[in-house]
Amino acid sequence: MYVISIPALQRNAALLRTVKEAAGCRLVLALKGFACWKTFPYLRDDLDGCCASGLWEARLAREHFQKHIVTYSPAYDTAEVAALCEFTDHLDFNSLSQWERFRGQVLAHPRYQSGKLRCGLRVNPECSTGHTAMYDPCSAGSRLGITAGQLAGADLTGISGLHFHTLCEQNADALETTLAAIDEKFGHLLRSPQFTYLNMGGGHWITKPFYDREMLIRLVRQARERYGVEVWLEPGEAVAIHTGVLRATVMDVFKSTGQRHAILSVSATAHMPDVLEMPYRPDVFLVDPASSAATPAVTFEGENYHPAGESGPWLYRLGGPTCLAGDVIGDFAFARALVPGDTLVFDDMAHYTMVKTTLFNGVKHPPIALQHADGRLEILREFTYQDFQDRLA
Ligand SMILES: Cc1ncc(COP(=O)(O)O)c(C=O)c1O
Repeated sequence: MYVISIPALQRNAALLRTVKEAAGCRLVLALKGFACWKTFPYLRDDLDGCCASGLWEARLAREHFQKHIVTYSPAYDTAEVAALCEFTDHLDFNSLSQWERFRGQVLAHPRYQSGKLRCGLRVNPECSTGHTAMYDPCSAGSRLGITAGQLAGADLTGISGLHFHTLCEQNADALETTLAAIDEKFGHLLRSPQFTYLNMGGGHWITKPFYDREMLIRLVRQARERYGVEVWLEPGEAVAIHTGVLRATVMDVFKSTGQRHAILSVSATAHMPDVLEMPYRPDVFLVDPASSAATPAVTFEGENYHPAGESGPWLYRLGGPTCLAGDVIGDFAFARALVPGDTLVFDDMAHYTMVKTTLFNGVKHPPIALQHADGRLEILREFTYQDFQDRLA
């Protein structure tokens, strides 16, 4: 079961609000990271709206968040542009060819003409600050964003914003480096009165305890003063980090050529694919009667949580219930032998999990629940065989 803590979400949202108010910018939730819309009423007061990756996320934002919508997609088709023109506030394009193709359609729209819809271009400052190639849109030949070289001499009639998204789980120093590259390559555009907004994308780890929020505030203020533009931030992870867990049941334990295995009710590939894609090692806790001071993001009265380690006598390879040989979450050591029926808690499973799950192998999809401030558990959704059948035709 995925369990999201409402107090933890509200704590993040309140912190984001203080930062955006101090910086004087707007801050929207990136739905690609966290789109559990039944939590939107708890976020709506503190955040300015949503960042959508295309028509469906934009629709979700309109129907359930009902505030500002900023949309950027690597590519749109004519029908999507027509639908988005009806309600998105920003429509950002990934390439000059997309903008040239849709410029006439957008500029003719009454919402564009009345100033309700503004258009921007995603730029590539060619300034890599991250360490994982999979998350680096600045690499040579990247398909994301327009380089300064491509932009030189282009007809920018109708464009009023620039958008960049180059960070991933980074501190404000990476933003400072990126903003220097933005200024060098695109500062002349941002200084011209034609440009009214600069969207600094996501990847800002604002709600992490060590994040340098004062630096972010200073950088945003500087950009607003330097260019006279509105600044937008669109974090996903920072909104939902440390707010949810995935609870699993141990279904089987056995040894294979000296390797101890535990097969779980949840799968790496189907329920936490970033463990394989990114890849990363989640924090895992064993629920056990013996007392412990460990605390995952969501706890229940009467339960004690024992963090798993890297090595020890009870080392298990945690695997999912699919037939993919590599459906493995990792090797984790526990304080005692695991037995079928044990509960394991995977920490930090609210963001980039529920938005990415599949029904591969027909595995049971974990239910989704909220934990309220008084500890009450509200089951939002349970999945059935019918959901599996309906996805396939
Ligand atoms: C364009 C864009 N904006 C915002 C985000 C959100 O990033 P994060 O969840 O790391 O804050 C992403 C993530 O990939 C993105 O591609």
